[in-house]
This record gives sequence, C-alpha cells and structure tokens, in this order.
Amino acid sequence: EQGQRQRLIDAHKAAAEFYAERLLTPGAQEGRRFLSERGFSRADAERFGVGFAPPGWESLTGHLRGKGFSDKEIILAGLASQGRRGPYDKFRNRLLWPVREVTGEVVGFGARKLDPDDDGPKYLNTQETPIFKKSHLLYGLDLAKRDISRERQAVVVEGYTDVMACHLAGVGTAVATCGTSFGEEHLKILRRMLLGRSKFGGEVVFTFDGDAAGQKAALRAFAEEHGFVTETFVAVQPDGLDPCDLRIQHGDAAIRDLVAAKKPLYEFAIRSEIEGHNLDTPEGRMAALEAAAPIVAGIRNEGVRKFYGVSLDKWVGLMDERFVLRRVNQLA
Ligand code: CTP
Ligand code: MN
Ligand code: MN
Ligand code: MN
Ligand code: MN
Repeated sequence: EQGQRQRLIDAHKAAAEFYAERLLTPGAQEGRRFLSERGFSRADAERFGVGFAPPGWESLTGHLRGKGFSDKEIILAGLASQGRRGPYDKFRNRLLWPVREVTGEVVGFGARKLDPDDDGPKYLNTQETPIFKKSHLLYGLDLAKRDISRERQAVVVEGYTDVMACHLAGVGTAVATCGTSFGEEHLKILRRMLLGRSKFGGEVVFTFDGDAAGQKAALRAFAEEHGFVTETFVAVQPDGLDPCDLRIQHGDAAIRDLVAAKKPLYEFAIRSEIEGHNLDTPEGRMAALEAAAPIVAGIRNEGVRKFYGVSLDKWVGLMDERFVLRRVNQLA
C-alpha cells in the first residue's frame, strides 16, 4: 500500500545519505581508491551519489533503527537480511550506487565488492522488493531522461561505472540495467521517452564489452522477436573495452567516438556471424552465407530484408545477389 511504499522510500533515502557520508571516512579508503583508479573524482562520486557500506554487520541496520525504522521495514526494503540472531546488513564492505526511479527516488542499490578475498559476487544488487523491480528499472534514467527525449537517443551500457563514464564524457543518454538483461519493459520505458509526442524517430544504441558473447545472442533474439531493428544500433569496442575502461585509457572523446561509430543491429549481427569463416575459399564463403542467412531471413520487413540480403552477398564476397536472395527467401 501507499504508506508502506513511502516508508521503504524513506528508508532508502536515509540509507543513501548514510552510505554517501561513509565514503568520506577513513575506513572507506579502498572505496575511494577504486573510484580514483576508475578516473572518478570526489565530485563525480557525489554527483552520482556513490556511497560506501562499512564492513560491520549492523552498521546501516543500527543507523536506521535509530531513525525509527522497524526491523521488519529494513528487511522488507532489502537493506538487511534476516539472520538467526536478527537482521544483518545486506551490503558490507562494498561501494554502492543508489538506483533511482525516474522521479529521482532511491529504490535500491548496486554494490561492488572491494575486497578480492570476499567470496561473494562482484556485484550485488538489491533483490526484488515492493519498490525494486529490476525489469522496470534503468540505472541513470533519472539523469538521462531529458537528454534521451531531446536527442532521441538512448545508449544502453552494461554497468554502473559505464553509465558514470558516459555521462562524464558528454554522453548524457546512457543508462544500464541492474544485474539483469535488457528486456521488453526496459524497451517500453525508453520508447516512451524517445517518441515523446511524435510517432517516429529515436534510436537505441547498445554497447557491451568483449566478454559479452551471450548478451550478443540474447540481444539478437530479442530484436528479431520485436522487429524494431531499424532504430536499434550496436556500438562495441573492437578491443573489448567497456566505456569505463575506454575512458580511462583513451579519454572522453573515445566514448563519444564509440557511440558515433554505432552499427545497425542487423549489420552487427550478420557480420558477427560471418566473422570466423575463411572468406578466401568458396567453401568458406558458402559456410558464412549459411551461418548468416537465417538472420536475414528472420527480418520481417521485406525491403529491409532485401537490403541486408544484398549486403550479405557483398560481405561474404559471393558476387551473386540473386543466389543469395534466393537462399534467404528459402529460409524466410
Ligand atoms: N553484474 C551483476 N553481477 C555480477 C557481475 C555483473 O549484476 N556478478 C552487473 C552489474 O550491474 C555490473 C554490470 O553487470 O555493473 C557489468 O559487469 P561487468 O562487465 O562484469 O563489470 P566489469 O566492467 O568487469 O567490472 P568492474 O568494471 O566493476 O571491474
Ligand atoms: Mn563484463
Ligand atoms: Mn564491464
Ligand atoms: Mn568495467
Ligand atoms: Mn559460424
């Protein structure tokens, strides 16, 4: 109900303030070191509300109790877990990014471990709660909203640090999912912003790092299913750097260049499929064609399908458009 939701929001507001203050304490040195190694200044951390969760078991829990929150509320908010001897802090010795609703209300956290000996996951996110629904949340959307509508572009990156890097580099349209893959609800939310009052326009640009093979496949399947491909792009670094690392190594301009070098999703998917085949031999070219043709065949719009059929012929180097188009149509 409304009252409970407000309590959970209030608890998160208090938690975010608590964590942000902790980042300035001597105990948070590892956290500050992580940020500065990532190229983030103290002001950058402040702008994004980055915080530090102390290693204790009841640091936040104790603080929230003092503010009048019940154990039940603290647990329901996902800020503590129920242990045998009472609640204990969910986030310990981690760097924290507050995840906000588009309205700016903090509803959860993404938390990165700082101690390499910590055997928990590298990133820990708030679990599903009455106010934290991963499938509906995009990290950074509160900050990116205006730019997304104005520029009619949304850039989807993988992680919290990548969103920071993009915004600081002048790509203010960047958002990220919170430990889940990009889905239908995320798309709906972005589309509403991209379209505004008009009926067309707007593009979504996906970036991911080199280790994200599974994600590539998921994205392709997703796009095929939804047929929104003409306005969907992919921007990946050839060397597999994510935007945060790219900014560290090559500066702000490199991030803007990355986004500018976006390729239409289908071109990306088809070329990825061709990659790895030996195009020096007719057999290799045919194998590449066979690998990529199903993607082209899956394109719903006839004109777009034909366009990529012709492109496919060029990319595999068969020099026989009609043959390639026939093969594609057999599969369609
Ligand atoms: N992620 C997650 N759980 C994990 C690993 C990753 O939820 N165990 C999510 C987080 O939202 C994270 C994003 O995936 O922000 C990107 O993860 P990854 O690419 O693995 O992060 P790196 O860039 O490798 O990590 P970092 O830069 O923090 O070292
Ligand atoms: Mn990765
Ligand atoms: Mn990464
Ligand atoms: Mn990274
Ligand atoms: Mn292959």
